[in-house]
Amino acid sequence: MKFRFLKPLCFIVFLSLNTKLMSQQDHTEKIEALLKKMTLEEKVGQMNQYNGFYDVTGPAPKNGNAALKYEHLKKGWVGSMLNVRGVEEVQKLQQLVVEESRLGIPMIFGFDVIHGLKTQSPIPLAEAASWDMEAIEESAAVAANEASAVGLNWTFAPMVDISRDARWGRVMEGGGEDPFLGAKIGAARVRGFQGKDLSLNTTIAATAKHFAAYGFAEAGKEYNTVDIGTNTLYNIVFPPFKAAVEANVQSVMNGFNILNGVPVTADAVLQRDFLKGKWGFQGFVISDWSSIAEIAPHGFAKNLKHAGEIAAKAGSDMDMESKAYVTHLAASVREGKVEERLLDDAVRRILKVKFELGLFDDPYRYCNEKREKERLFHKDHMEAVLEMAKKSIVLLKNDSGLLPLKKDQKGILVIGDLADDKNSPLGSWRLASDTNSAVSVLEGMDSYTKDYSFVQGPKYFDDDASFLQHVKINTDDTSGMEEAVAAAKNASVVVLVAGEHGFMSGEARSRTNINLPGLQHQLIKAIHKVNKNIVLVLMNGRPLALPWEAENIPTILETWQLGSQSGNAIAQTLFGDNNPSGKLPMTFPRSVGQVPIYYNHYRTGRATREPNVFWSHYADEKNSPQFPFGHGLSYTQFKYSDLSISKTAQKEISVSVSVTNKGEMEGQEVVQLYLSDPVASIVRPVKELKAFKKIRLEAGASMTVRFLLTQKELGFYTTDYEWTVEPGTFEVMVGGSSAEGLSGSFELE
Ligand code: GLC
Repeated sequence: MKFRFLKPLCFIVFLSLNTKLMSQQDHTEKIEALLKKMTLEEKVGQMNQYNGFYDVTGPAPKNGNAALKYEHLKKGWVGSMLNVRGVEEVQKLQQLVVEESRLGIPMIFGFDVIHGLKTQSPIPLAEAASWDMEAIEESAAVAANEASAVGLNWTFAPMVDISRDARWGRVMEGGGEDPFLGAKIGAARVRGFQGKDLSLNTTIAATAKHFAAYGFAEAGKEYNTVDIGTNTLYNIVFPPFKAAVEANVQSVMNGFNILNGVPVTADAVLQRDFLKGKWGFQGFVISDWSSIAEIAPHGFAKNLKHAGEIAAKAGSDMDMESKAYVTHLAASVREGKVEERLLDDAVRRILKVKFELGLFDDPYRYCNEKREKERLFHKDHMEAVLEMAKKSIVLLKNDSGLLPLKKDQKGILVIGDLADDKNSPLGSWRLASDTNSAVSVLEGMDSYTKDYSFVQGPKYFDDDASFLQHVKINTDDTSGMEEAVAAAKNASVVVLVAGEHGFMSGEARSRTNINLPGLQHQLIKAIHKVNKNIVLVLMNGRPLALPWEAENIPTILETWQLGSQSGNAIAQTLFGDNNPSGKLPMTFPRSVGQVPIYYNHYRTGRATREPNVFWSHYADEKNSPQFPFGHGLSYTQFKYSDLSISKTAQKEISVSVSVTNKGEMEGQEVVQLYLSDPVASIVRPVKELKAFKKIRLEAGASMTVRFLLTQKELGFYTTDYEWTVEPGTFEVMVGGSSAEGLSGSFELE
């Protein structure tokens, strides 16, 4: 009797699972039926992606050969387009294919919605600094909501490349240096973009990119060679991609680099053995822009046709803009150089995503002009990205307690070109957003006080910097310096905004010099001579080396590039309505000479300081970073106590710690757990992040934070890609950064 209610419930659960299963079976049957009808050229067409007629995000000529593209669209030889913008344009192109091609297979429209479409959230490296997975997921959902409103159904994000090299411009686009944090972020962003139901016209397919190891480009030079061992590949590079696959990411993008001698676009071990084999990836692989064609200049193919054959065999399912497939692949199949079954697999994968998106039910489901008018820059989106921005700010230093400013504070002086900049906070991947659409620092200040003055000082950068050109940095025109110094003499506090232009980081923006660009360092020193009360507000897309500032400036706020609501988030933090809670997702070096520098390094055999020179160090620089991974202060103080470690009946390790807010202000703290395995069958890092929790505590309150370490956290991949958990002593450290915390240990049998 007591289970009388259970029967209907089981039936409902069975029905919904069955519906899901049926729809997948339904898709499979439809895909197979379609595949049978397709000519070889139509199969190749699904594997071909053309750039639209707007933005160029690679080395192709703007607009390309439009006439040929239209021809191919009508023939059904274009499975997808990228960089098409707006409902009207998408509708027009979709109609051409659906109504004029023989089988009318709808296209899928992709775009780099990296951190927003019109409404820009903070750059991904900034979002990573929030360590707040819910906020990151919500931010991706906002981006999906706007992208889907302009006809797009696929984004080339999240970029999940781990990188330890601030010289590489694309660190702004990823989740930082750590695989555990990077994996959590990658999965959260996939969930945000794809939602719970991909068939809704408010969710879009996501792409985990760039598979694999692009972030390890030698010397941080863009598009450069990658040569790393399997230990790094399996334990550092792979985890975020595997997490994205487990989060059901619908596509994976490969990359431009070679990995250990093989172009990743041509690498069957990566794309077939690992991604589609071991990990069971069911979506499709999109090449990066012309990366298939580039297999030839890499020296791995004789020509474009040969490159296409290699790429198709290696599991590159769709060709972005290299035209290798649409030009040669059918012939290669007819010549027996590529088996047609490989094309069938690629086409199945591509069609499956199109079915999942609902494009076969209604190819125009994303073309809704009413939504396009309503959703872009929507106030709900602005609120979401403001919250995201506030959580992304990292307080690096606050020695003299200059922050937070008093709301009635007199004599505030704001200095710096970037304080007035409504463009740079949008970062470099804001293709579809509106130039100068960010709230500037000055505009944010205005909502708090009119009683401040602003002096620009020497201009930092040229004004007409663009996505396709390098930024010109002012290195000699000091006009404005004197005025700034004179104004600083009488200020109660100087808010000095400095950093990088929005187009100084991002793709094709590698730099050998990661100090503050141009005259900014001189400006800061000149101001410091007349007034020590300086709050340095950094706006940058990569870790910077600023040793003098770190030593001499009492308060430093890392605000990255915070997107559309940048100025409001910064002002709310300066005046204390937002207590900063961010933690660095990437180490800040003392100098570029230390790069690559990262917290989860190996011990070496000579780590301890010797009385002589024979130990692992530099003669001219410390080993330690300027600011370590996981570092971030608050306007309040958190105290850690009572670390406890115990074993559960399931041989898991339970760790708990008490955290108390000792200050006067409510605040958030990211409690981080690091594990060290000092003796193992391969050398393990000095420590690795294995768990974290972001908690909120009222002033004076305490909380016990608990973690459970399972086989998933205690092991590592061997060089045979076997997950192994080895017995022995493990060390645990729990604290507010990778550099300090309470320590303990446990024995694992
Ligand atoms: C670019 C980038 C890639 C982007 C693609 C399309 O070159 O490497 O991340 O998604 O081309 O714009």
